[in-house]
Amino acid sequence: MSTTTTTVITEAPVAVSLPTTLTQADEPKVEELKTDAAISALSTGGYEFPGIPKIDDPYKKRQWQLEHMAGAFRVFARKGFTEGTSGHISVRDPVDPNTFWINPLGKHFGMLKASDMVQIDEEGRVIGGNKTAVNAAGFMIHSAVHKARPDINAACHTHSPAGKAWSAFGRPLDIINQDSCNFYGIQAVYKAFGGVVLGAEEGVRIAEALGPKGKAIILQNHGLLTAGSTVDEAAYLFTCMERTCEVQLMVESAGLPKKLIGDEEARFTSSVNADAETLYTEFQPDFEYEIWKSNGELSKGGY
Ligand SMILES: *[C@@H]1O[C@H](CO)[C@@H](O)[C@H](O)[C@H]1NC(C)=O
Ligand SMILES: [Zn+2]
Repeated sequence: MSTTTTTVITEAPVAVSLPTTLTQADEPKVEELKTDAAISALSTGGYEFPGIPKIDDPYKKRQWQLEHMAGAFRVFARKGFTEGTSGHISVRDPVDPNTFWINPLGKHFGMLKASDMVQIDEEGRVIGGNKTAVNAAGFMIHSAVHKARPDINAACHTHSPAGKAWSAFGRPLDIINQDSCNFYGIQAVYKAFGGVVLGAEEGVRIAEALGPKGKAIILQNHGLLTAGSTVDEAAYLFTCMERTCEVQLMVESAGLPKKLIGDEEARFTSSVNADAETLYTEFQPDFEYEIWKSNGELSKGGY
């Protein structure tokens, strides 16, 4: 690769074409590339690709969120993330940002539609939407995260199998492929398993472990939790993290020496691939597939 060109950024897997060892002199160029690449992480061949829609009316935004939330649940169902009544997604309400929407307890992810979602306050008390039982104890994890991080509008947690398996090690994922770079610098591990989350206290400790920048956390001996500025971002991070756990388990079981991606390459790749807009966009194929499969049923109703 020529060191003078900045036009290598033509598609997502950019970091693989970066030199593996960067000299001091090369470093400013990486910064330059970053700026160019941030605009064109998803190369679109010159045609515009829709990103996160700008919705000013908070009621319309609420409806839009509820539909994307229902879609996220159906994606999770299709990918096998259910375990009994476990698992929840919470989304901050755009009308009253101190309240949240969550799934009704005990209803299969794959059957959820917009009008099934329940509006709750910070303590998990039902205040609107589909007035029915919720997993209030489970929500206390989310509540603490939402309180600590106003930038987080959505959080996902399930007992998905690979996440659950990887969580037994109590260690972060290795950065060993392009997709795992999405977790570079934003993953955390919550080590103390305090039994089923029943107290607000454990939620606070989990939020602390996530820190000011984290968006993905491995809850040791439990499962995964991801967060984002949109439900799409949080849900994509969840599907990607579950797959990344699965892939690392495959890698570990092969037992051959692993090649880790270097810090600089990982940082660069995450800077172009793991921003809020790109992660939102990554989720749209899965979301649209669910809309199509449900004949629009998942968008039905609203509040
Ligand atoms: C509300 O929740 C209950 C209980 O999970 C469910 O049976 C019902 O279909 C939900 N949706 C609506 C729109 O009432
Ligand atoms: Zn759980």
